[in-house]
Amino acid sequence: MTLTSKKSNPLNGIANIPGDKSISHRALMFGGIAVGETLIHGLLEGEDVIATAQAMRKMGAQITQNDDGTWSCHGVGIGGLQEPDSILDMGNSGTSTRLLMGLIGGHNITVQITGDASLIKRPMNRVIKPLEMMGAQITARDGGRLPLSLKGARDCLPIEYELPVASAQVKSCILLAGLSAMGATTVIEEIPTRDHTENMLRHFGVEVDVTKTETGADKISVTGQKDLHGTEIHVPSDPSSAAFPTVAALLHCDSHITMKNILMNDRRNGLYTTLIEMGANIVFENERIEAGEKVADLIVKGDKPLKGIHVPASRVPSMIDEFPVLAIAASLAEGTTVMAGLEELRVKESDRLLMMYEGLKACGVNCEMTEDTMTIHGNGQAPVGGTEVKTALDHRIAMSFLVLGTVTQNPIIIDDSAPIKTSFPNFVEMMNRLGTDIS
Ligand code: S3P
Repeated sequence: MTLTSKKSNPLNGIANIPGDKSISHRALMFGGIAVGETLIHGLLEGEDVIATAQAMRKMGAQITQNDDGTWSCHGVGIGGLQEPDSILDMGNSGTSTRLLMGLIGGHNITVQITGDASLIKRPMNRVIKPLEMMGAQITARDGGRLPLSLKGARDCLPIEYELPVASAQVKSCILLAGLSAMGATTVIEEIPTRDHTENMLRHFGVEVDVTKTETGADKISVTGQKDLHGTEIHVPSDPSSAAFPTVAALLHCDSHITMKNILMNDRRNGLYTTLIEMGANIVFENERIEAGEKVADLIVKGDKPLKGIHVPASRVPSMIDEFPVLAIAASLAEGTTVMAGLEELRVKESDRLLMMYEGLKACGVNCEMTEDTMTIHGNGQAPVGGTEVKTALDHRIAMSFLVLGTVTQNPIIIDDSAPIKTSFPNFVEMMNRLGTDIS
């Protein structure tokens, strides 16, 4: 289904942002292998997270949605996952795939995994290689793509592994396989990536050791064959989803929106740091810690034009999912915004660098792209718009161009709105309640 976003009034009111996707996946997975019951409040009920729930159920975990909207998991215990009797279809979800490959890799079961037309293009060698070192046997399509067959290790070997790419999914995959290994599994990461796996494992009673190497890299270790204990989890709201109403509000003078209970993990908030450097009026109130994660209420006011800036490459991991919507903000800013170190964007749900470049060009934005950079020349004026943009099964491309359509001179149409349900099922209703005109 296509969607059309027309020039809108300023955004006003309270934006209800759904639960964090990364934390929701982990809550179901960890609850599914814990001993005892886990009660989850505020789970994101998007398609990606439901794919994780279905996969865990097929492997024996009891996962139910309660009448009050909470979710309960009765876990199978480490080593207790059962061989599913059909293929696990992970849909669009790279996080489900790579993290579950880690869990399965430490179990003596054989599992076939596939996904949609986007997921089967994404590289899996980054997790296949360490899992094979730990004793798993994996047969994948050429180039390490899905569908694949994964036979987990009978006796999982602990390894020490230096991440060749800054990826929380790869780090998490190895640590989760390590939960089954006899001894300590260690991941070394030069560039810090989101640490929800580490934080939540601790919340389930697992000791996670973090030390520094001589070069200052993080060395993260878990000792395997220790039980996780069922617990209660309050999933904070997703800062990656909050990014869309945030940017939309900033682009409209006189906007004033409030978003409650947003996850403010230091390794996730690069977009907010960047927008503030661009001159955005964003205030964090009521900062607190919940279930090991920092959260805050955000107040965003659109009171002045943004300025173009250079985004340092070192900031990329803390805003890896937010470049599409930052590119929209940069298109309306005064001056040039340069984003570097973006090579990982080419292997997300789509080639995000290419999809943004082509979509922005079609909307009349002056921008350039290289293999790993994007430069956007804004002049503070609304681009022309008036075109249909391709979204390539990528929820964040779809939502980004709907945000752009709220300010362009002519409406923007996106060719396929279906992927939005993977991470933000009530996106359109929420945006329209704030004042946009998306239909
Ligand atoms: C995620 C890690 C990131 C991010 C993805 C969610 C996670 O992927 O892009 O949306 O939950 O661990 P990479 O680890 O591949 O960068």
